[in-house]
Amino acid sequence: MSKTIKLPGLIDVHVHLRAPGATQKEDFQTGTKAAIAGGYTLVLDMPNNPEPTVSPEALQQKIDLAKARVYSDVGFHFGASKESIQYFESIKDKVFGLKLYMNHTTGELLIEDEKVLEEVFLNWIKKPILVHAEGETLQKAVILAKKFGNKLHVCHVSLKEEVELIKKAREDGLKVSCEVTCHHLFLTEDDALRLGPFGQMRPPLRSKHDQQALWQGITDGTIDMVASDHAPHTKEEKLGEKVPNGVPGLETTLPLLLTAVNDGRLTMDRLIELTSTNPRKVFKIPEQENTYIEVDLEESYEIKNENLQTKCGWSPFAGMKVTGKVKKVVLRGNIAYDGQNLFGPYGQVNIT
Ligand code: DOR
Ligand code: ZN
Ligand code: ZN
Repeated sequence: MSKTIKLPGLIDVHVHLRAPGATQKEDFQTGTKAAIAGGYTLVLDMPNNPEPTVSPEALQQKIDLAKARVYSDVGFHFGASKESIQYFESIKDKVFGLKLYMNHTTGELLIEDEKVLEEVFLNWIKKPILVHAEGETLQKAVILAKKFGNKLHVCHVSLKEEVELIKKAREDGLKVSCEVTCHHLFLTEDDALRLGPFGQMRPPLRSKHDQQALWQGITDGTIDMVASDHAPHTKEEKLGEKVPNGVPGLETTLPLLLTAVNDGRLTMDRLIELTSTNPRKVFKIPEQENTYIEVDLEESYEIKNENLQTKCGWSPFAGMKVTGKVKKVVLRGNIAYDGQNLFGPYGQVNIT
């Protein structure tokens, strides 16, 4: 059976495309091929490269690399560090947001010093501050955003207490948005045991209880968007001594969400809000003319590592059966994907 419908191109506000510096994991070409194959027409890249995106030169280097060859559109977030505050004013028009790491994870970008945190919130105005802040740390971010009047975007909400904190902050008048990933929506700590290093990421997979709170937040509107947090690492790295955190997600997010629509856990209207309307609104992403995708709501298939475009070549969802397949991606009038083959590159670097 088949039932093909048209949807807006998906927007992913949280991906790690790894170039420059970690292109054994992914690069702009393979990462944006994965984006297109997953139904995304624009992705926003994170700054936690081995040499982080914390200076105008580092940002320009990324823009130039991406300009050479991208299959989907790409934009960037700048990295917050003690030394990068001085550049906020000069780079603010070239990025969609500022990424602030308040917990340890991949890369060197971490700010714990209260004074530096205050300086960051004081100096980054208008555009969102995207925080990696888990559990209690999120409380700190909320207090700072309230004090300095920032727009706060909470990355990868994974705990029930985080959902509740966001709800309350919003009721108190804070401009706060948040995202959830498909690994936290579809996997739990039980899967982490089964997946070993391939189920290891930050924040980690949580309990069923937390997972239910995320689905509740999806239904009641507390959660604004789904982001992939596409964070590829090679199989060798994952099987090595020091396991890096992160899993790829660009090619599995939409099929998983379509499966949830098929199962009656999500409405199609809500799917569109979560993956396109809201990300566009929150990050003020300009319209892409004549850009859309087509999906077959009834085609079922098994997620297989060998069918993926991402350079890392694996997925924590491998072996899972999904219902809902990307059949076509059109970017500014160009067919970028026909359900089997990729064409282009037709992507542009979108520097706001
Ligand atoms: O699991 C994660 N991987 N969490 C992060 O915050 C960073 C990411 C990465 O860059 O690998
Ligand atoms: Zn993070
Ligand atoms: Zn991330």
